[in-house]
Amino acid sequence: MITLMYISCTEDRPRAANAHVADELHASLEAHEPWISPKFLYDALGSKLFEAICELPEYYPTRTEAAILSRHGAEIARVVGSGTTLVDLGAGNCAKAASLFPLLAPAQYVAIDISAEFLCDALTRLRQRFPHIDMHGIGMDFSSRFELPPQVRSARRLFFYPGSSIGNFTPSEAQAFLRRLRLQCGSDGGVLLGIDLAKDKATLDAAYDDALGVTSAFNLNVLRHVNELIEADFDIRAWRHHGFYNPARGRVEMHLEAVRRQEVRWKGGGRTFEAGDTIHTENSYKYQQAEAIALLERSGFEATRVWTDPQRWFAVIHAQAIG
Ligand code: AVI
Repeated sequence: MITLMYISCTEDRPRAANAHVADELHASLEAHEPWISPKFLYDALGSKLFEAICELPEYYPTRTEAAILSRHGAEIARVVGSGTTLVDLGAGNCAKAASLFPLLAPAQYVAIDISAEFLCDALTRLRQRFPHIDMHGIGMDFSSRFELPPQVRSARRLFFYPGSSIGNFTPSEAQAFLRRLRLQCGSDGGVLLGIDLAKDKATLDAAYDDALGVTSAFNLNVLRHVNELIEADFDIRAWRHHGFYNPARGRVEMHLEAVRRQEVRWKGGGRTFEAGDTIHTENSYKYQQAEAIALLERSGFEATRVWTDPQRWFAVIHAQAIG
């Protein structure tokens, strides 16, 4: 089932999970190797913690991508053209797209995020800054299905997917996701993708296990969110964050490790975790530039331009729909 709703900023949103979310969480928590989908990292507090991560000296992706967008913004705008329907996927605080508004001059801005409350606040502020741009906010989980409501213009859709969120899918999920975008963008559409490139382990380990412990709080917050969604009783103090690069799999992994034996209950179930048991909460795949381009090509797009930073740590790729 797809969760699709236009945001009304005055409405009180229900906190409990719908049946689909509850079933999904029960299945993943009861699995032989338990896991929690990374989309549950982003409740209102999780989105704020992620914003804080983006400010950390160790977390290079945000500032590196911002520097690419700022340095090459005029050229990106020339390649993309003005008057697009700019669909911002995982918009969060909308800051990245907003930084491009003056150059891109989109005809319509559609911000989509699973964290509807957080998005709503961001969009309210953005509307005041850019009253002339037609804006829509959609609270939607686009990780497994993707449909746009009729209010979204069909002409010249540019899917903006920055921040290397594509890396939070496995490569085959990423391809399926890009194919869904391809189906939604007609022959005159495209994508502007921000993607993190493979690099040395020390840099990656530090980026996902920072000295201040913000990433640890972000990871642990998923348990607080799960407690809220399925009336679980995870004791957050009984878990420890791990974030590290796994070079064999080309990805950073985040896990939570039980620091002692414990019984955790949730509505309609529960399980025992032994000390040392882990819950896998996120993968963040790191690509070679050529792999990223090949991924786009397998998904019905053709890369037209790639912009990177001097260290080649991050790439922004524009790709046009083909076929
Ligand atoms: C949103 N996403 C691209 C981030 C990443 O780097 O994979 C989420 C994140 N997880 C830990 N730190 C940041």
